Amino acid sequence: MQEKLEEVKAQAQAELAQASDEVSLQNLKAKFLGRKGVITEILKGMKDVAKEDRPKMGVMINEVKTFVEELFDQKANQIKEEKKRRSIAEEKIDATLPSRSLSVGARHPVSQVMEEIINIFEKMGFEVAEGPEIETDYYNFEALNIPKNHPARDMQDTFYISDDVVLRTHTSPVQIRVMEKEEPPIKIIAPGRVYRCDSDVSHTPMFHQIEGLLIDKDITFGDLKGVLTEFLRLIFGEGIGVRFRPSFFPFTEPSAEVDIECVICEGQGCRVCKESGWLEILGCGMVDPEVFKSVNYDPEIYSGFAFGMGIERITMLKFGINDIRLFFENDVRFLRQFV
Ligand code: DAH
Repeated sequence: MQEKLEEVKAQAQAELAQASDEVSLQNLKAKFLGRKGVITEILKGMKDVAKEDRPKMGVMINEVKTFVEELFDQKANQIKEEKKRRSIAEEKIDATLPSRSLSVGARHPVSQVMEEIINIFEKMGFEVAEGPEIETDYYNFEALNIPKNHPARDMQDTFYISDDVVLRTHTSPVQIRVMEKEEPPIKIIAPGRVYRCDSDVSHTPMFHQIEGLLIDKDITFGDLKGVLTEFLRLIFGEGIGVRFRPSFFPFTEPSAEVDIECVICEGQGCRVCKESGWLEILGCGMVDPEVFKSVNYDPEIYSGFAFGMGIERITMLKFGINDIRLFFENDVRFLRQFV
């Protein structure tokens, strides 16, 4: 019996040395230690052993069993370690492969131009003011001297939320909100979204404007011309032609529209400027005394000018874009051109 046990030990050692993976290890384990394994069979043979020899035999068999179990544990560890070492060795990093390209975001062209305009006015000493996009009829129209029957109030242009509440149709109501809160001197610009019920190649239901307001003593139309001419030269280039055309706005008197020389044909006349050589770019004027009345400013003491412009229109002219809707389709092929 003892010989047999020594044989089992040697056999287990020899066969384990051959095992090189987990599957063969499992098979060997079943062969030696399993329910029908070699050692179990030997244990079963105990019944044929003389009673007095049984305890000694039991101890010997158990010793062999423990020995073989330890062998298996060692081998299992060894196989695991080897597997790890192999996978580390195989895991090669090729530092010469080109990397996957990461797409980087960029500012929207409208945001870029908005920022540029704000920067120019901030350098001239204007501060940024903001107001709500959902506005009352009073701030959007009434306080700006836009009478009840003015076409700007037409249902076709204005998004009404209720009889008395609208989506602001321009950034001009911010003028009123600032003047209600502060005393002159006032020097603000108010950038933001505005809404009109309109949609074609040059109109979208939402677009952006910048409003400007400067109030102090002795402000004249000359100041207005100086500030806006300088602004247009900074944004469109030193050589750009600028002209002021008489116009009408309920909240300014006198009012003007400002044109720049057509940036497409350089004043020669083309489809974009409708053969006139000029492009309308903003509205402006001296603040109407009626507006001062609604904020309790004394028009005998103070005067000032206001202006308003559409950011998309300026962006289109700066970049030569012919359809305003492109700004809001979020097609990266379009947007990528302005990175
Ligand atoms: N609010 C006008 C518009 O949306 C633009 C405008 C014109 C603003 C003249 C002004 C201004 O402040 O003085 O068409």
